[in-house]
Amino acid sequence: MSEIRRAVFPAAGLGTRFLPATKAQPKEMLPLVDKPLIQYAVEEAVASQITNLIIVTGRGKNAIEDHFDVSFELERILEERGKSDLLNLVRAVSDMVHIAYVRQKEALGLGHAILMAEDLVNDEPFAVLLGDDVIESTPPCIRQMIGVHERSRTSVVAIMEVPHEEVGRYGVIQGVPLGDDEGRIFELHDLVEKPEVGKAPSNLAIIGRYILTPGIFAALRATNKGSGGEIQLTDGLKVLLASERVLGYRFRGRRYDAGEKLGFLMATVEFALRNEEFGPAFRTYLKSLKLD
Ligand code: UTP
Repeated sequence: MSEIRRAVFPAAGLGTRFLPATKAQPKEMLPLVDKPLIQYAVEEAVASQITNLIIVTGRGKNAIEDHFDVSFELERILEERGKSDLLNLVRAVSDMVHIAYVRQKEALGLGHAILMAEDLVNDEPFAVLLGDDVIESTPPCIRQMIGVHERSRTSVVAIMEVPHEEVGRYGVIQGVPLGDDEGRIFELHDLVEKPEVGKAPSNLAIIGRYILTPGIFAALRATNKGSGGEIQLTDGLKVLLASERVLGYRFRGRRYDAGEKLGFLMATVEFALRNEEFGPAFRTYLKSLKLD
């Protein structure tokens, strides 16, 4: 039985980088091939033996609740038409797990969204998964991180190397490798949200997977508004670092930034190429484009 039983999925952001698609539709519901983004993160948590899921939603996000709910009308029609394959697909989504929802009334930042889940988290270490970051890995990224947490009992943030000119898009760490697990585990000394290129302490960027101790809630409450006038999780982690160890973990796997248009397109092409049903036909189509 995993020590981490709960996962929080912040999904209350405005998704401005994806406008106009996200004007009336949540970014988390954009389909990557045939599943909405948030389902990839939910499946990753389920595959990591996390059983209690908490989705932080906001205005205009009802489609997320409907997606994981039972759809009686759709199921009846599929049953009547004998479409058992589709029926099983639809039922599998609502049967998957128990999900609780909590609302963030105003999009005041990722740190603020996590604070909204405090009562449901129940004073235990918990996982956080951001649906924008789709990560392909075996074992799942969050499962790898649970392993690090079980050995250290600390908060753990997922990190990856990014090109130096892109550091300004991320939270960036300053830390030293601890020497175990092929140098993947870092002792954090500092974190900086969206540093200027040239002033970043490293090119190790924080990616949307976290294991957090409940100490993060007091830390977030003590955190001032930062970049973009929002309460940033990176700033909250910096406060936490003053009283607790926090580790960085350079995960094994491939991450796609599906929260912005180009990253989303790259993920779509690669996932479509790997699709058993139409991957080969899609490959043939792409080859026929004769790109130079
Ligand atoms: P992003 O930084 O991607 O912000 O949030 P965003 O609003 O979703 O998108 P852009 O930047 O405007 O295009 C990272 C994660 O934190 C959640 C988002 O839903 C996303 O999963 N979030 C962000 C909240 O839940 N609430 C917030 O106030 C901000």
